[in-house]
Amino acid sequence: MEEALKFIDSNVGDAVEELQQFVRIPSISAGGSTDSSVYIDQAVDFLIDKFVSIEFTAEKIRLGPAENPLVIARSPDFSTEKETVLFYGHYDVQGVDNPREAWTVDPFIGLKREGYLIARGASDNKGPTFAHIKGIEAVLKSIDSLPYNIVFIIEGEEECGSGALESFIDNGGLNEFAPFLCTVISDTSMYGPERPSLTVGLRGISYLEVTIQGPTQDVHSGLFGGIIHNPNTVLIQALNSLFDKSGNVSIPGFFENIVTISGEEKALYQSLKAEKNQYCRELGVSSLKSSPDFNILEQRWTQPTLDVNYLNGGSPRTVIPAEAKGALSARLVPGQDPLRIENLIKSQIRSRIPKGASVTFSNEHKAPAYLLDREHSLVQPALNAIREGFKIEPLITREGGSIPIVTNIAAHTRSPVLLIGFGQITDNWHGPNEKFALCDFHRGMRTSAALIYELMNHSNHSF
Ligand code: BES
Ligand code: MN
Repeated sequence: MEEALKFIDSNVGDAVEELQQFVRIPSISAGGSTDSSVYIDQAVDFLIDKFVSIEFTAEKIRLGPAENPLVIARSPDFSTEKETVLFYGHYDVQGVDNPREAWTVDPFIGLKREGYLIARGASDNKGPTFAHIKGIEAVLKSIDSLPYNIVFIIEGEEECGSGALESFIDNGGLNEFAPFLCTVISDTSMYGPERPSLTVGLRGISYLEVTIQGPTQDVHSGLFGGIIHNPNTVLIQALNSLFDKSGNVSIPGFFENIVTISGEEKALYQSLKAEKNQYCRELGVSSLKSSPDFNILEQRWTQPTLDVNYLNGGSPRTVIPAEAKGALSARLVPGQDPLRIENLIKSQIRSRIPKGASVTFSNEHKAPAYLLDREHSLVQPALNAIREGFKIEPLITREGGSIPIVTNIAAHTRSPVLLIGFGQITDNWHGPNEKFALCDFHRGMRTSAALIYELMNHSNHSF
């Protein structure tokens, strides 16, 4: 292991330059204003070249003309006799109109400043994905042969629903790599700077868009105001009925069946001493929406929530608009069924639509929460790898975000998913000036390499 880690330490500069090339490719899959397909292909080619250079067999899998390709790469001397360690990441990135003026640097120039790489995708998820590749490269330089297969699946639609990967998996795409030891994903974050962590839980999601239809076209509110229902008013009243006066979810049945966390887990999160004031400072708010029952971390990681992500209707003139639109997403926890929650939200909204207006729902997507048993035998090897990579004692945490494909991967590989984030919650994912600390990139490469050795020790393989 020492040799591989040394190789990484002495070649950080080159690795950073290669990552800069990767983030310069604007492979946007969500929230872009122009067609990014050329850049999607460029990102795919970049990865394939990288894999070929480390003697992996890499292929570009295009499931359909409208789908962004998957990159699948397997280690040299791949064999179905061996177990597979699967690495998952995504090469697609969010758009940059968040708003564009809020970016103080060109999002695709790959600028290094004060120890950070500032670029769209630097932290979500090109940097961490690339850390895996570079970590494995170092391992392959240090040993003759691997006791198990290493397979990478890097998708290009994580930011827009993972459709291609989902159908690939559902159609048995993973079967040829079975049996699996585990899957490794670095698309979560560390607990904080200098506080690396293994994430054992993710919230799930139920997302939907709602459209309220009124008159066939926008009409004068002086002429018709008072005799027809206004879609904006209908929408806000329907949405209002989802929340109580404090802004908490009030949909009947929403909190049913939630698995409560153990006293031990509660104590653990309380011991992390999350600072309300720090959150306020970082988020630019004067106060948090506090709960009498849970501290901030329990709230973020173990409790469900519902957010209105988007609202649009009419224009700032005296009109009654023809339609009003909104987008909603619930974050779900173990015990909540995503389809049931989606239906609860829909029927609550439907019950508030008066005659003379109509409602339709669209773009629904959903995924359940993920929870790894912290007693699982691979938890220790994962923690050991983080300890080696960072030279810091790791924490075990959960996260509030969602990686919808995780539960699908866990089910089809019948093995655990190890979530080892290298980024920070302050890296501005999906926002302006996204950044990734170069030291986190370095330690991420080390952790990825160390994990390969820890997994070998765990399964008592010789090498
Ligand atoms: N990397 C995030 C997932 C994430 C966010 C994990 C925060 C841990 C903490 C991922 O790229 C993402 O943004 N996922 C979306 C999924 C959604 C569009 C279905 C999310 O969580 O909103
Ligand atoms: Mn993301």
